Amino acid sequence: MDKLLVHGGTPIHGAITISGSKNASLPILAAALLTDQDVVIRRVPDVSDTNYMVQILTGLGADVERFSGTVRVTAADISDTAPYDIVRRMRASVCMMGPLLARKRRCVVALPGGCVIGDRPIDLHIRGLEALGATTEFEGGNVILSAPGGLKGATVDLCGENGPTVLGTDNVMMAATLAEGTTTITSAACEPEVVDLADFLNSMGARISGAGTSTITIEGVGELHGTVHNVIPDRIEAGTFMVAAALAGEGVTLRRVHEGHLVAITSALRKAGHQVHFNDNGDACTIHRGDTPMPAEISTDPYPGYPTDMQAQMTALFATTPGTSRVTDTIFPQRFMHCAELKRMGADIHVADGQAQITGVKKLSGAPVMASDLRASAALVLAALTAEGTTEINRLYHIDRGYEHIDEKLEALGANVERVRV
Ligand code: EPU
Repeated sequence: MDKLLVHGGTPIHGAITISGSKNASLPILAAALLTDQDVVIRRVPDVSDTNYMVQILTGLGADVERFSGTVRVTAADISDTAPYDIVRRMRASVCMMGPLLARKRRCVVALPGGCVIGDRPIDLHIRGLEALGATTEFEGGNVILSAPGGLKGATVDLCGENGPTVLGTDNVMMAATLAEGTTTITSAACEPEVVDLADFLNSMGARISGAGTSTITIEGVGELHGTVHNVIPDRIEAGTFMVAAALAGEGVTLRRVHEGHLVAITSALRKAGHQVHFNDNGDACTIHRGDTPMPAEISTDPYPGYPTDMQAQMTALFATTPGTSRVTDTIFPQRFMHCAELKRMGADIHVADGQAQITGVKKLSGAPVMASDLRASAALVLAALTAEGTTEINRLYHIDRGYEHIDEKLEALGANVERVRV
């Protein structure tokens, strides 16, 4: 279990390149199971979640090669059962259900269970796949979906209590590509990662329109073929470094970003008094810490709203922003584990009913802290950049799940960080 030592107080500056999106790569890797032909996916970030996904594909019998960001998958002959040992390590493995069911007409996938950010049910995924004609059984901790006669197009609404579901939309969209007839998903998630998956599937011969809006239409086709695809930049990694720059930056440039995907994050940072400038192409941005940082109120929302995956990082920024800020998470109202650790560093935060009220303190102080999930760990790293003294972030594997070489990128910007291999 590696840990990260962050010696706070060193300003960061310079330029780094943002990696491919983890949350786009995971369903795209799963979608490679929809064809027996070669699929080449480029810019897959080297993080442990994509490694788990590669292990799942291999466990299912696919032939997978990985070399410097490119993954080639050939799923000529695959089984219908996703092994529990790996599924339990990564909740996103539920996005195997759609492609396996479509290709094999049956799948057995271990139920993922809850995680530290909340309960995380999969009822909407099941509702969507059942609408396409699948029957469901739950047995021995697994969900078994069957559609021996093949799937049939239908109209499916995927809105839950907390809004649309991203991986649920992905699952139904993937399954519907090979269903007979037309499927319409209403209340679909509009996230850029869903659009990237739709683009990938269309490049394999699928007929999907409307991705990126709340209504997606999929006309089923007989089969899909191989393709080559470049994954979109990781907007959450970009957002995390944007906050790092707002905290400790003297001019930080992020290359290979997508301006359109960063609107909510950019506007939150500007509201908090920091400067963000995009180049004319909208594929690079430079962030300067503002002279007079201001408190703000942020509430997460499905895309194009402010992302839940960026609320912990913003909480870290507000911890040393003068005045009182509020961060509300409507998507995962229990996702505030980072606050207890930030308080150990001296932050003044009160959490109640899915909202953190943060009163900025002058300085945080370095302390040993415990990472609890991916984005919570990122928040601790950010807080540590300006804290007095050294912060020791334990359980670094959480951050390695979704940030490609974060220590090397921070070092490239001049931060004083050290990975200790334990
Ligand atoms: N929900 C249900 N029923 C379902 C599915 C979801 O009630 O069947 C609820 C959830 O409990 C939550 C809301 O719907 O309140 C949205 O959850 P969603 O299904 O959209 O989450 P997800 O698809 O499982 C993806 C990302 C998460 C990100 C969420 C929300 C991937 C691999 N994961 O999860 O990313 O927080 O969308 O944007 O794409 C992360 O990267 O750190 C991460 C957790």
